[in-house]
Amino acid sequence: MKREDLDVYLLIAALMILLFYKNYGNILKILMNLSIYLVMILAAASFIILIKMRRLSPRKGPLVVPARLSVYDKDANINLNKLKDIAEGMGLRIIFLISIGRSGLMGRSPGKVAYKVLLLGKDREMIRAGASAINSTSEGFKIELMERNLNPDLAQEIIEICDESEVASIGVGRNPERDEPLLELGERKGRVIGIPVGELTKHILVIGQTGSGKTTTVKRIIYEAWNLGIPSLVLDSHWEYRNLIFGMGGRIFCSRAGYPQVCINPLISIPKGEKEIFLVAETLSSLLDLTPSQFYLLLKALRRLSDISSEKNPPNMYDLLMEIKGFSTSSQPEEESRASLVRKLEPLVSGDGEAIFKCDNILSTGFEEVPTLLELGDVESDLQKRLIAFFTLKRIKDYYIREEAKSRYPKLIVVLEEAEKLIPYYKDQIGMELISRLFAELRKFGVALVLVSQSLSEIPEGAVRNTGIKIIHKVESPSDLKFLRTFMREKNIVDKILTLAPGECIMNFPGGVESLQVRSVDELPLSRESVDEVIMMNSFYWISR
Ligand SMILES: Nc1ncnc2c1ncn2[C@@H]1O[C@H](COP(=O)(O)OP(=O)(O)OP(=O)(O)O)[C@@H](O)[C@H]1O
Ligand SMILES: [Mg+2]
Repeated sequence: MKREDLDVYLLIAALMILLFYKNYGNILKILMNLSIYLVMILAAASFIILIKMRRLSPRKGPLVVPARLSVYDKDANINLNKLKDIAEGMGLRIIFLISIGRSGLMGRSPGKVAYKVLLLGKDREMIRAGASAINSTSEGFKIELMERNLNPDLAQEIIEICDESEVASIGVGRNPERDEPLLELGERKGRVIGIPVGELTKHILVIGQTGSGKTTTVKRIIYEAWNLGIPSLVLDSHWEYRNLIFGMGGRIFCSRAGYPQVCINPLISIPKGEKEIFLVAETLSSLLDLTPSQFYLLLKALRRLSDISSEKNPPNMYDLLMEIKGFSTSSQPEEESRASLVRKLEPLVSGDGEAIFKCDNILSTGFEEVPTLLELGDVESDLQKRLIAFFTLKRIKDYYIREEAKSRYPKLIVVLEEAEKLIPYYKDQIGMELISRLFAELRKFGVALVLVSQSLSEIPEGAVRNTGIKIIHKVESPSDLKFLRTFMREKNIVDKILTLAPGECIMNFPGGVESLQVRSVDELPLSRESVDEVIMMNSFYWISR
């Protein structure tokens, strides 16, 4: 028995003795009135025990008070690091719980956004003072403490998760009862319109001229999918997904100094043999626009590298360049061809190309668990972007194939913004088949692609054919309209495409055609600097649930 428990029992015993002593002479009378005394004694005893037990329950760690950080002014510039500093200055710790549930953050009420926040401190007084201090720092937002404290066990669990990892994330559980939920995109005349989740892996094409609402639509898809527990991997070049991904508890990688970086080695699978060698050769040939003789040289170099390396120690682009540089040539045309190939490969191993293609950490970004942004805005050339995109897709495919779990329910959505700049344009039939096969395999293993482009004619036809759902925003280009007429069943709809306002679109899918107004996602009003600082410092813990 603990010492504190003993105190309680002693206290009760003392009380009972006192009562008994005072009433000793009237014992018979007491017995007659026993019921009323008994009730009184029991009530007093339980009261004492209750108070004692409340004080006895050991609190693990600090007091944790849930709070709400409501942002009233959508343009409020909240510097999260500043809030953290203020809290820390007052001996508190602040944890932002980014809730993305339907009733939670980024909710449906426009103009107002809220975070869930946990404030950790010694006692409620201290926490209250901290919250007031934070509230007084600027306008447009307010921290309101909840009356209750957080269950100590749950609080402890969250703190442990936060302490263990740089970025903590708790995925959204799927609801097995609603096997095929609808990914709600928007509405038409009050009717909700969306994509059944199981259809996503048919792949989606989003087209429309500039400013027609493509990115807004894709953000809705990403947001809705994450509500269902499906993460997205976004490849963008204009930082347009920063706040969305960040706000969903996701991760951001780019090739800017100081940020978390991603690198991908296109040659990592070369030691596996001829099939992989040919895929790499065909892809590089298409991206670098190689002549047949250069293709042959490349193939020869890749085969040699495959022979002299192992899966544990794969070659990289630098090794490839060195291999080709070392080839001896027997004629002037052959030498020219080799020199030109070297010139084409050099940008891939110099400048920022060296950092991007030398190592390979794409599979450790956590893309299969939380929304992830690969921001390619700082990548020097379109060629490098295409290589990153293609080999990222391939790596993802290989990853899910290894898992050997075929799935119609999507596990991941991959968004390619400006897809025309990311998908390789294969010159020949073999190349086209490579892309078709890649798309089909991604589909089979539960990866849904979202290709975004301003024009249909700029995307390889094979890629267009491999998208089962087409979301069409306003398009005016005659060639695109002509193309659309070839596959839209309801021809009169095509005329409507010319008149769509931003955010309006026509969705063409195997089951039919729908026109709708897309509902935009209310994003976090965070400044670029604020997000940058947090990403670079890695000092915040983002939990989404
Ligand atoms: N669903 C929508 N609801 C309300 N406004 C919208 C919607 N979609 C687009 N808009 C408006 O149109 C603007 C441009 O949208 P968005 O950036 O999505 O276009 P885009 O097609 O991606 O353009 P770009 O080709 O230049 O990338 C938005 O900033 C917004 O003001
Ligand atoms: Mg856009």
